[in-house]
Amino acid sequence: PTIYVITPTYTRLVQKAELTRLSHTFLLVPQLHWIVVEDSPHKTSLVSDFLSHSGLAFTHLHVATPRERKLQEGDPNWLKPRGVEQRNEGLRWLRETNRNRAEDAVVYFADDDNTYSLQLFEEMRWTQRVSVWPVGLVGGMRYERPVVEQGRVVRFHTGWRPSRPFPLDMAGFAVSLRLVLVNPEARFDGDAPMGFLESSFLQSLVTMEELEPKADMCTKVLVWHTRTEKPKMKREEAMLKQGLGSDPAIEV
Ligand code: UGA
Ligand code: MN
Repeated sequence: PTIYVITPTYTRLVQKAELTRLSHTFLLVPQLHWIVVEDSPHKTSLVSDFLSHSGLAFTHLHVATPRERKLQEGDPNWLKPRGVEQRNEGLRWLRETNRNRAEDAVVYFADDDNTYSLQLFEEMRWTQRVSVWPVGLVGGMRYERPVVEQGRVVRFHTGWRPSRPFPLDMAGFAVSLRLVLVNPEARFDGDAPMGFLESSFLQSLVTMEELEPKADMCTKVLVWHTRTEKPKMKREEAMLKQGLGSDPAIEV
């Protein structure tokens, strides 16, 4: 089965570095199709040029997060969910493209800043409905994970509101394309309360009992919720004032 990876991404200093790291992982994964969805009113040349030289099978989409849904400078990052419209746009494209045939494939939501092991993709490739596994360095914990007893997920190891329907990070599950197609209404709800974004999508697709535990019954961490530090531009700004700023024609 093909793995469709949906990645929301937005313009900032580290964007090309993030996409470079991700693409070098994905190049090592057989049968992967990358759906890159820019949070932008138009496709940027940085991402277009990057993808066309990436060597990957890809689809390049864009949709801007409406202003009132976007985090403003200084807002705490838990205030509003990120990447919602972009993931939904990826789902829309998959449904439109597969209108006349139900291809045997898997859908995974990969944020552009996480770290993914190659083994993760072989685990998720054989998803029947929804597969799940641990995520490292997330939720203020060493890891969060589904807890498995007798081959079934019975609860979740998480530090925060374990009573949520699916207390999983976006990086902790994959869905079969067939399930996405037979549930045309399933999507991410940007109005869902904090921490319920993943649940808003998964609730319309499965029950906890139906989850397929991967990664050795959810005992192996194969993906990490890493976050990239925002680079400081103090020197750049000082140099700019002296007319000695870095060449804007050199893409970073
Ligand atoms: C956590 C989860 O891991 C995300 O899956 C979830 O979307 C997010 O919280 C949330 O609360 O919405 P976190 O590291 O805090 O992730 O979020 P980011 O990595 O900053 O953003 C998630 C994705 O959305 C990234 O791929 C990022 O490039 C994209 N994004 C972020 C946009 O498309 N637009 C933005 O304005 C910000
Ligand atoms: Mn992130």
